[in-house]
Amino acid sequence: MASVTSLSDSVQQHLASALTATRPEAAGADPLLRRSDRADYQANGILALAKKTKANPRELAAEVVARITTGDELIEDVEVSGPGFLNITVADRAITANLAARLADGERLGVPLKQDAGTTVVDYAQPNVAKEMHVGHLRSAVIGDALRSMLDFTGEKTIGRHHIGDWGTQFGMLIQYLFEHPGELAPAGDVDGEQAMSNLNRVYKASRAVFDTDEEFKERARRRVVALQSGDKETLDLWQQFVDESKVYFYSVFEKLDMEIRDDEIVGESAYNDGMPETARLLEETGVAVRSEGALVVFFDEIRGKDDQPVPLIVQKADGGFGYAASDLTAIRNRVQDLHATTLLYVVDVRQSLHFRMVFETARRAGWLGDEVTAHNMGYGTVLGADGKPFKTRAGETVRLEDLLDEAVQRAAEVVREKARDLTEDEIQERAAQVGIGAVKYADLSTSPNRDYKFDLDQMVSLNGDTSVYLQYAYARIQSILRKAGEVRPAAHPELALHEAERALGLHLDAFGTTVFEAAAEYAPHKLAAYLYQLASLYTTFYDKCPVLKAETPEQVENRLFLCDLTARTLHRGMALLGIRTPERL
Ligand code: ARG
Repeated sequence: MASVTSLSDSVQQHLASALTATRPEAAGADPLLRRSDRADYQANGILALAKKTKANPRELAAEVVARITTGDELIEDVEVSGPGFLNITVADRAITANLAARLADGERLGVPLKQDAGTTVVDYAQPNVAKEMHVGHLRSAVIGDALRSMLDFTGEKTIGRHHIGDWGTQFGMLIQYLFEHPGELAPAGDVDGEQAMSNLNRVYKASRAVFDTDEEFKERARRRVVALQSGDKETLDLWQQFVDESKVYFYSVFEKLDMEIRDDEIVGESAYNDGMPETARLLEETGVAVRSEGALVVFFDEIRGKDDQPVPLIVQKADGGFGYAASDLTAIRNRVQDLHATTLLYVVDVRQSLHFRMVFETARRAGWLGDEVTAHNMGYGTVLGADGKPFKTRAGETVRLEDLLDEAVQRAAEVVREKARDLTEDEIQERAAQVGIGAVKYADLSTSPNRDYKFDLDQMVSLNGDTSVYLQYAYARIQSILRKAGEVRPAAHPELALHEAERALGLHLDAFGTTVFEAAAEYAPHKLAAYLYQLASLYTTFYDKCPVLKAETPEQVENRLFLCDLTARTLHRGMALLGIRTPERL
């Protein structure tokens, strides 16, 4: 299905042909159309064209204006302003007719499909086995899930990879500790996922303490890693128990997050174990990696640490063990060669950006990442507490993700209870879950991913301001109006003159397709969030200024209901792309 041309695209095309007609030698010149507060749009492209063709910009602008058709079909009025800008006012008729086409477009609401769609492997939501999830794992899950939906919606094929930490030194430590302290871990099946998880967490801490203080234990733990990596049965069995219990736990947290995680996409570090020796061999044979003090490492001229010493990427340790880098390098071979990825996207804490720089560079040198494959680490910032320091409990401990989510839902329940008094307790809990989890996701997604943000539940569930609750209320309010309208159906009436607030809302609705498309391409969910917030604000103004069910004529009632309807559908779609629900009633 061909996508609907937005009004701004039509205006842009009209201007481009006027430019070409005026200066045929400059065919293809960009009119540079932008929304403007002086008029509906402003076009600044004439300045560049004037420079190029050595013309006087204002005179050139006047020539272009003479070639623009005005009337009630598309452009109502165009004026030259400033040094040679064009201020453009579009016709009310054009706004309404275009929005009607968008509604007729069904689910897509005018969002174009990518021409050259490829396959993006999205590496996100990667907690660590035998460890509890904390607020740090929230961002990767929430951002990754939103980016994935957005990319899918523009036609890109996405494959998820949850590169869970289920391999490496810490398992040697953990398994060795359990061998030496039998009885510390309850037999599998005796406890539920959450209990097993807190057991594992306790054992993890205990083993860590020994590991950090006892050199001999450290050595035994190192040997245990080698046993694990070479497939020793006893070791592997205990390891598998951790993994299974941890997965049960992960699923319960992701469910709380209202996020679907597929089992076949949980492909942790261990999955690349068998390929790691080959990765090392290939790197060594091609000279990309070299032996240094027994270890196999890759050096980079530009990456240096203290004292200007080069910082290497360690592919294989001197004791033969493979680590984090080896699994990531092997994963790249798999994702490019077997999954045929054209883009590798890693939604991982910005503190790992150096790791990814080195891994990508190594893979490029080895020829595993060709020119046709893009690799990108969408490094996100830290979640901060009210004090501006990394988020911790009052006692200074890491906050468990489940506790945090439970608290958000509890706060949301207060808000919901306050607003709607005639609900049953079950209804309150259901809505509270959608409001509370939505609030947490939105607070995360509405900040540019690379920035830190403060985790502030009071602000997150506030009804005023840039919050998901505000957007959810706008949506629910529209649904209530549509219900009240009863038999009267929304219908577009392009012949009607529009109120200023209707025009502003309509022009913003027109930008949905471009916004989603660009936000997906730029991996910028916050741009979609900002768009939706502005949509809800413009809707609020419209609702204050323009009576809907009590409008002057039946046509005007229908046309305003139509604007309500399209706004609701746009909010619903946009929020869904961010992974946030829009309850029908609140
Ligand atoms: N499990 C890792 C951590 O918690 C994140 C994994 C990121 N993905 C990757 N391919 N390295 O730090």
